[in-house]
Amino acid sequence: MSILPIKLYGSPILRKKAKTLTEISEKDKDLIADMIDTMYTNCGVGLAAPQIGVSKRIIVVDVSTTENSTETMVIINPEIIKTRGEKMHEEGCLSIPGTKGGIKRSEKIKASGINIDGIEFEVEVDGLVSRVIQHEIDHLDGILFVDKLSEQERTGMKNKLKHISSLARDNVDYYATAKKEDK
Ligand code: NI
Repeated sequence: MSILPIKLYGSPILRKKAKTLTEISEKDKDLIADMIDTMYTNCGVGLAAPQIGVSKRIIVVDVSTTENSTETMVIINPEIIKTRGEKMHEEGCLSIPGTKGGIKRSEKIKASGINIDGIEFEVEVDGLVSRVIQHEIDHLDGILFVDKLSEQERTGMKNKLKHISSLARDNVDYYATAKKEDK
């Protein structure tokens, strides 16, 4: 499968409400495989379809418990059906490289969705996985973590966000370019 360029902050698709799937086509399955490849290549712990330019309600989350085991959760049409507690923790986003901020989210969640075989399921998670699922579902609703920062924090990032937006406008494949510059 393919590693696709990540849509950066400023790309209009990141602000769109993604579409619910009524069936899972072969094309969707290819898309999911691409999402997983793209997430791991860029060392992400989660990815939403709009981040690779497809406005569909699909998220992938890395739920590996140790560095050596990789396990990927795919949730189609994900929904949070129950929450408990609140926790502040630092977050970043592949679409907004080089930025981080403390975001308050539900500590534990129960989420529902459909897996790649079209079967409905529910999961109860806490910790990082819970946070990542909430972050990725936000992407499906056009919400980015920087929207949840205080005015002051966002102002501190203004120049960075402006720069990323200019890369988005020029359709720069940020991670491919960064890798080339490493060599
Ligand atoms: Ni993100």
